[in-house]
Amino acid sequence: KKFLCGVDLGGTKISTGIVDENGNIIKSIKIPTMAEKGPDVVIERIEESIYQVLKDTGLEMSNLKGIGIGSPGPLNAKKGIVISPPNLPHWSNVPIVEILSKRLGIEVRLENDANAAAIGEHLFGSGRGVDNFVYITVSTGIGGGVIIEGKLYSGENSNAAEIGHHTINFDGPRCNCGNYGCFEAYASGTAIARFAREGIEKGIKTKIKELAGEGEVKAEHVFEAAKLGDEFAKELVEKEAFYLGVGIANIMAFYNPRKIAIGGGVSAQWDMLYEKMMETVRKKALKPNAEVCEVVKAQLGENIGVLGAAALLL
Ligand code: BGC
Ligand code: NA
Ligand code: ZN
Repeated sequence: KKFLCGVDLGGTKISTGIVDENGNIIKSIKIPTMAEKGPDVVIERIEESIYQVLKDTGLEMSNLKGIGIGSPGPLNAKKGIVISPPNLPHWSNVPIVEILSKRLGIEVRLENDANAAAIGEHLFGSGRGVDNFVYITVSTGIGGGVIIEGKLYSGENSNAAEIGHHTINFDGPRCNCGNYGCFEAYASGTAIARFAREGIEKGIKTKIKELAGEGEVKAEHVFEAAKLGDEFAKELVEKEAFYLGVGIANIMAFYNPRKIAIGGGVSAQWDMLYEKMMETVRKKALKPNAEVCEVVKAQLGENIGVLGAAALLL
């Protein structure tokens, strides 16, 4: 049994891949999560994606050591239960490990998506050899994974480093977790799109709307418009970089890491964000914490979730 299967369950897409024991992706695929349909449908889609990558690689279930799943939290990894992720509507204490291991007849492991990605990036990416390391994912939501003295710190019940839900403004907008002014409600891809839609509703003239066309405004339209010189979009990108800087400065205060790696869809826009983000970090972080900490774009790129989830079997 030489192969591992990693599933990165996201609020927007499911990525599933076959990985070898050295962390090489053999094949990975991406399908829409259809999160609005609730857990039964989403779990069926996970199964389908696993059968699809097996078919694509000519492998069988019996060639796999197991299946690792990185899921948004809160969840309980030891119990194999996904509790109630803010960006997976209608999930409530879903025993995903039991369901999938019974149906597929194979070992299934569960971990918070950002925790799994942190393990992956620590083993195979920019975190190699870094004992105190934090991974941040900025996508539909914002998640964190913390490696302390070489080991994942998962807290009392798997929910350490839920950094997306630390409050950066107690009077701020409502977050999908029910709280107000969370880091995620300001700096996630979802938040960028929401700020853009609010501007458009107020009548601000912007290319973002044209770029979105008939479809819904997404964060990627904002970055695209900013690249075309659109003033409102440029403002939104600058605000995004500022909010990220605020969160990163806080994270430096919490964990005093030597390195912070940022991944997830929004990190693809690294060059547009880096300068303003770091300017904010320098203004807000404690000097000794900032001095020792390098902030980098995650090395594993698009595959980080799949690799991290597969690494749960190692
Ligand atoms: C969840 C985290 C998750 C992150 C990224 C947040 O909303 O609370 O557990 O890591 O989204 O998916
Ligand atoms: Na986490
Ligand atoms: Zn929140």
